[in-house]
Amino acid sequence: MQNVFKDQALAGKVAFVAGASSGINLGIAQHFARAGAKVVIISRSVEKIAAAAKTMTDEGFPALGIAADVRDYAAVDAALKQAHDTYGKIDIVISGAAGNFVAPALGMSANGFKTVVDIDLNGTFHVFRACFQYLNRPGASLIAITAPQAVNPSLFQVHVCAAKAGINMVTKCLAMEWGPAGVRVNAISPGPIADTEGMLRLATTPEAERAVKARIALRDYGTKTDIADMALFLSTDNAKYVTGSIIDCDGGAKLGDAGADAIGNFG
Ligand code: HXC
Ligand code: NAP
Repeated sequence: MQNVFKDQALAGKVAFVAGASSGINLGIAQHFARAGAKVVIISRSVEKIAAAAKTMTDEGFPALGIAADVRDYAAVDAALKQAHDTYGKIDIVISGAAGNFVAPALGMSANGFKTVVDIDLNGTFHVFRACFQYLNRPGASLIAITAPQAVNPSLFQVHVCAAKAGINMVTKCLAMEWGPAGVRVNAISPGPIADTEGMLRLATTPEAERAVKARIALRDYGTKTDIADMALFLSTDNAKYVTGSIIDCDGGAKLGDAGADAIGNFG
């Protein structure tokens, strides 16, 4: 059996990662490059995506950064075509572009709600719908990045909760439709991940960070590498019978508030 943790587990593969100028998705792209994949990354900012690609080419890995907004289907399709023309058929597609801000529903305009749904949910449909014709089928692996908020309602996050819930269903529907073509479609649901824009926006003070950790079963934030390792596993033949799954990599966040001292009573 292939060992997913050995170097070059993705040798010869082509990976396309949307929303990868920073954070978790850039971490996945870098992990994939080190595992031997040729990597294409996209985001809105010309400067940010070029700098992100440079982190990989500076290490000697083939990588290409393209500016494209996932809300624009034609731009996504053009980026995928450029990836295909540059490196060949695409084996792995990650859809992780996202936007977030903390606001109560009454402090959120219709456009504020729409903006997040457009980036997260419509963007994921765009990336997956457009990539199909460029895929190396059978055997391709598509991964959406969702969040525990897809199943756990969360205060001041109605836009994100709705968008991520939709992403879970897009994942499952496409897994059903495209399974016969040998295309697997899964999602990873990260819990709070250290050193990310997402957690900077959600837990803005050390006290807030401590409070988040105190409610999680494993009592800590995860790391970008935790998520990249899960994405690597899903992108190899080790996961060849896994499709339509929402994989929690969240320290138990989806379980809900584990703030009580559970071990004290029963341990
Ligand atoms: C209320 C807000 C707001 C805020 C923006 N809006 N910020 N409303 N409170 N704090 C409103 C604006 O007023 C506007 O509505 C609408 O949203 C669109 O704003 P724009 O600035 O024009 O949008 P845009 O330039 O497209 O930027 C998108 C963005 C921005 C989502 C608003 O924050 C962004 O670019 N984010 C990308 C980076 C990011 O968010 N990373 C974190 C992902 S983490 P009006 O009506 O005025 O026109 C994540 C965590 C998930 O997803 C779960 C974690 C556990
Ligand atoms: P991040 O660094 O802000 O990553 C978001 C990325 O999306 C950026 O590269 C951004 O680049 C890009 N992007 C935003 N809007 C875009 C658009 N319209 N088109 C193309 N690209 C766009 O945030 P992160 O915290 O690492 O989050 C990454 C993913 O993990 C997201 O899907 C998020 O919901 C999910 N997640 C995060 C956490 C966490 O703890 N951080 C927890 C659960 C889930 P540009 O600005 O250059 O466009």
